[in-house]
Amino acid sequence: PQMRPTRLLPAAAPGAVEEAARLLSGGGLVAFPTETVYGLGADAANPQAVAALYAAKGRPAFNPLIAHTKDAASARRLGSFNRAANILAERFWPGPLTLVVPYAGGDGVCELARAGLDTVALRVPAHGDAAALIAAFGGAVVAPSANRSGHVSPTTAAHVMDDLSGRIDAVVDGGPTPVGVESTILDVTGEVPVLLRPGGLAREEIEAALGHPIARPVATDDARPLAPGRLASHYAPRAALRLDATHVAPGEALLTFAGMAPDGTPNAGSVLDLSPSGDLTEAAARLYGALRALDASGASAIAVVPLPRTGLGEAISDRLARAAAPRPSPAPSGSEIPA
Ligand code: TXA
Ligand code: MG
Repeated sequence: PQMRPTRLLPAAAPGAVEEAARLLSGGGLVAFPTETVYGLGADAANPQAVAALYAAKGRPAFNPLIAHTKDAASARRLGSFNRAANILAERFWPGPLTLVVPYAGGDGVCELARAGLDTVALRVPAHGDAAALIAAFGGAVVAPSANRSGHVSPTTAAHVMDDLSGRIDAVVDGGPTPVGVESTILDVTGEVPVLLRPGGLAREEIEAALGHPIARPVATDDARPLAPGRLASHYAPRAALRLDATHVAPGEALLTFAGMAPDGTPNAGSVLDLSPSGDLTEAAARLYGALRALDASGASAIAVVPLPRTGLGEAISDRLARAAAPRPSPAPSGSEIPA
């Protein structure tokens, strides 16, 4: 990727959002907070900017991006909404829900950003800084999580700088992101909505709004996965993760929940509790920061206690399973998408 100095723009500073919007208009790459995680934004209509974004992340080109709009009306111009899509957009936007719908055509979201698909993933973020930036920019902003491909998603501006400093133009610093895991992705192109990725909006809430159950997540290891970001070993820390741990080996780090102390806890290395009070919302918000912190402690392995799988526990368990999955061998150089 093209190297450049990365500016840190405090969201509250006068003119910061306008400056970030100008950078996007010029084809630049700007990371910004959403309520879920920090996104790396580019002009959705500009193939050069999108190519540069793939290069900065080191992301495989077959992975399509989410187009973020300032409101539901702008999203509706980019895709066609069936009855379920309308109900969900009405009920949950702005918020941590991404809807995959048939693409409406036109060049609002370029083909490269859609990875050549005839569908598009749309989301209206609820974060004030994201909304202000997208409104100031004026068009749709594609934004994957603002981390190097395969790394843990960033929930602070410092996390973004750790991964992408020197590769992107700016980071809008709006503090830690409140939800902490990525949006829930729902495919509403067909009769039956399909959950492609559990996330910050709990399945139970979606089912309550629709009045019926939604299809379970599909198998994820197909050659051509439905949500290609659901490849095995995404969201990976450096340390090996051991899930559903009922004991901790000496020196292993421990990621726990609700005060659980499995056998061996006194001899563990670093210990972090995602939510001492057992609150899954707090646990989601702290998940990626905790994985980064335990990684930074130098532990070679992290034992993770069994966690509830209801509500936001579904997304947390999904991300932990992915972080624990066998790693692909490092990509040979030249396999990254050129700018
Ligand atoms: O919370 C979030 O969703 C964050 C913030 C920044 O909005 N964004 C995010 O983007 O997580 P990313 O690129 O890391 O994940 C987007 C996911 C990928 O798994 C991708 O394959 C899927 O969305 N996706 C995008 N377009 C799709 C489509 N047309 N059909 C199926 N899946 C799609
Ligand atoms: Mg991501």
